[in-house]
Amino acid sequence: MSTSLIILAAGQGTRMKSDLPKVLHEVAGAPLLVHAMKSGAALEPEKTVIVAGVGADLVAAAAQAFDETAEVVLQDEQLGTGHAVLCARDALADQDGDVIVLYGDTPFIRPETLADMAAARTRHDVVVLGFEAADPGRYGRLVMSGDTLERIVEHADASDEERAITLCNSGVIAASTKTLFDLLDDVSNDNASGEYYLTDIIAIARDRDLSATAVTCDEAETMGVNSRAQLAQAEASFQARARAEALENGITLPAPETVHFAHDTVIGRDALIEQNVVFGPGVTIESGARIRAFSHLEGCHVSRGAIVGPYARLRPGAELSENVHVGNFVEIKNATLAEGAKANHLTYIGDASVGEATNIGAGTITCNYDGVMKHHTSIGARAFVGSNTMLVAPVTVGDDAMTATGTIVNKNVPDGAMAIGRAEQVNKPGLAVKLFEMLKVKKAKRDKEAG
Ligand code: UD1
Ligand code: MG
Repeated sequence: MSTSLIILAAGQGTRMKSDLPKVLHEVAGAPLLVHAMKSGAALEPEKTVIVAGVGADLVAAAAQAFDETAEVVLQDEQLGTGHAVLCARDALADQDGDVIVLYGDTPFIRPETLADMAAARTRHDVVVLGFEAADPGRYGRLVMSGDTLERIVEHADASDEERAITLCNSGVIAASTKTLFDLLDDVSNDNASGEYYLTDIIAIARDRDLSATAVTCDEAETMGVNSRAQLAQAEASFQARARAEALENGITLPAPETVHFAHDTVIGRDALIEQNVVFGPGVTIESGARIRAFSHLEGCHVSRGAIVGPYARLRPGAELSENVHVGNFVEIKNATLAEGAKANHLTYIGDASVGEATNIGAGTITCNYDGVMKHHTSIGARAFVGSNTMLVAPVTVGDDAMTATGTIVNKNVPDGAMAIGRAEQVNKPGLAVKLFEMLKVKKAKRDKEAG
């Protein structure tokens, strides 16, 4: 059966104290909203509808950057979760399958949990995701009788007896599209908060003799983000899981607690990730590569047998082939390094291609930017680029070519040629000794004047 997703993301997020809509704050390099969309994507939804309010344009841009087919509907006034879901009605008018409601600020619902809910849906009209809360606080409480969920009571409306219930509502609900909207038609705002509660659909369903049940998950999955402190907790919880998974998958991490992963980091088995490595989004590391301490990588690909760092920076578009070595204080951006190429010290390679087995000397820089435009540097195979070479792009260095130390390369270097472009050296006999004496006399005079 086809499934659609509704993701509620209209909330202000007042407690974030931010100009950015809450759901756009990031965990592991992706907005909270994208984490929710990724969970939901496991159900291969027919349609995804995001209910946005505050900062709707920004929310739409982030949602569509992840899934260009996502539809964004506006909830002008936040009248409650029930009202928010109703805002998605028109967008789903052509859907006759199931629908699952998720919250945009709840990033960690596991795809397996949603699959459990879909399975329970084959036996029940409405399925709610619940959890045993360590501290039930202000959560809605699930009132069960046996397997049947009779109603959900919001904290503000609950009796003392109901408040003693520890099985709480995560907010995730599944039903058929038709049932969900039919039930919502009967929801009123006659309650302690004056809001239209999505949770009221359970009691209404039971009145109509529909069946409702709860599927449960671990409390950690239902963690929502409402403040910066919770955002930091969510990040810590993501990182703890990513580190455990990396170890489980056969990756060596001598100090796992110091490595930071992004939501989409892919690492092959037998890779070694040393201390204090940070992965931004879009990184793939192949098996057996080694990322040494204090390196920062984003939007890049590191092949088998390559060694990166310590203290290296790979920026978007860095593509390292097998057995490439990139050493300390080397920055690479939008550049390919072919098999066995080496840039071991203090270098910037941007907008460039480097051929196989080429060696880039210390202090080499591709001068890729003229203040207005970026230009490409092409370096051939088996070339030797001497230390402190400035490659003024656009420029080409041929196969088997060499550049002398200190050369400013602003003309193409043919295959097999040696480029030398630096001022000629002149030696003045005895001048150094004379200069030292002069300077010492000068210093003595100055010290005397200063007393
Ligand atoms: C809701 C549930 C509660 C549950 C809790 C779990 C209701 C009535 N209550 O309470 O049972 O235990 O979540 O965290 O559903 N939103 C909108 N538009 C609105 C109102 C809310 O988009 O008009 C969004 C919010 O941005 C948020 C989500 O819906 O992402 C939940 O809203 P929130 O106000 O946090 O609900 P709670 O009071 O926490
Ligand atoms: Mg809430």
